[in-house]
Amino acid sequence: MAKQKKTVALLVGWEETFPKAFIEAVNTKGNGEVEAVFAKVGVTKMNDGKAYDVIVDRISHEIHMYKPWLKNQALKGAYVINDPFWWLADDKFFDNALVEQLGVAVPKTVVLPSFTPNPNTSDKSHRNMMLMDWEDIFNYVGFPCFLKPYDGGGWKHVYKCRTPQEVFENYAKSGQLVMVLQEGIEFESYCRCLCIGKDTVIPIKYDPGAKERTGFGAYVQSDEFEKGPLAERILRDARVINHALGYDMNSVEFAVRDGIPYAIDFMNPAPDMDFYSLTEPYFKKVVDAFSDYVIELAKSEADTNTRHYPWRDMLKTGGKLPAVKAAVKAKPRKAAAPKAKAEPAATK
Ligand SMILES: Nc1ncnc2c1ncn2[C@@H]1O[C@H](COP(=O)(O)OP(=O)(O)O)[C@@H](O)[C@H]1O
Ligand SMILES: [Mg+2]
Repeated sequence: MAKQKKTVALLVGWEETFPKAFIEAVNTKGNGEVEAVFAKVGVTKMNDGKAYDVIVDRISHEIHMYKPWLKNQALKGAYVINDPFWWLADDKFFDNALVEQLGVAVPKTVVLPSFTPNPNTSDKSHRNMMLMDWEDIFNYVGFPCFLKPYDGGGWKHVYKCRTPQEVFENYAKSGQLVMVLQEGIEFESYCRCLCIGKDTVIPIKYDPGAKERTGFGAYVQSDEFEKGPLAERILRDARVINHALGYDMNSVEFAVRDGIPYAIDFMNPAPDMDFYSLTEPYFKKVVDAFSDYVIELAKSEADTNTRHYPWRDMLKTGGKLPAVKAAVKAKPRKAAAPKAKAEPAATK
């Protein structure tokens, strides 16, 4: 019996250069065994089965109706890049706290309450929230510092602040967003790594300052991060980040200060992969690595790793409930009557 062709489906938005090159590369290297297509998403029904073996999602952050489709596809056994459950749960503050514990240097960061309260709340809704101690915050993060959304992207609402006054002015512009305030790393160089499948890390010198001149940060051709102790540390840290967060497609940025790479932005589950911004040599590396990776995945039995979600085990048993734990079942004990305190002896 002929082997069934495996399929890799691409979900994209406005992009032109990456999808075309990616699909061509998979179809050429897939050698008739693996085929790449544009995903087709109709009205999603609950009992839809697995439509593709691997799905590469580059747009669900902008087209939200793809999210339930992607989750349903993961439920049915597809391998979705990136994990649609984790992407929704993720945030930059948690990520900083996590990877710091794994030995990655990160800027000191605090979370601030939304400047504008949710209109459906009152003072009473905020009873758990303590007053902010700005002096303590400024002493911790120092100046300059960056104010930015805890789950942002595309440099929106990212403010570099040199004084408390600038923090207050920019904070007032952030409305209901949840913002973090973060130590500013005054860097001697900057590296953006494009990461495919957790272990393929393509480090590229990056000039964020170009944004002020042209509207975009710029990739720079250089071998600065190709070898040596700094390059090795960047490679290790990027792999630690990708393994810890589980992303198969990510860009991980490091600002290098005094020879130490600080991870600045590493929650980019649909990173820029455009030919014109990456430039030809890096674009080629990305397309090559990515097409190899999805072909390997499609040929394997891999699916999105949902083993840590409780429903996965329940599916196997048709919804059988686990035995109730003794602590939950046990009847509450009658509280023992407090012992009467001995009256102090009356003194005459
Ligand atoms: N803590 C920081 N120290 C130095 N530069 C920073 C810091 N945070 C952000 N930046 C600069 O601002 C840019 C945008 O911030 P980033 O966290 O990447 O936001 P976004 O997710 O919107 O891209 C970064 O590429 C970097 O140049
Ligand atoms: Mg960024």
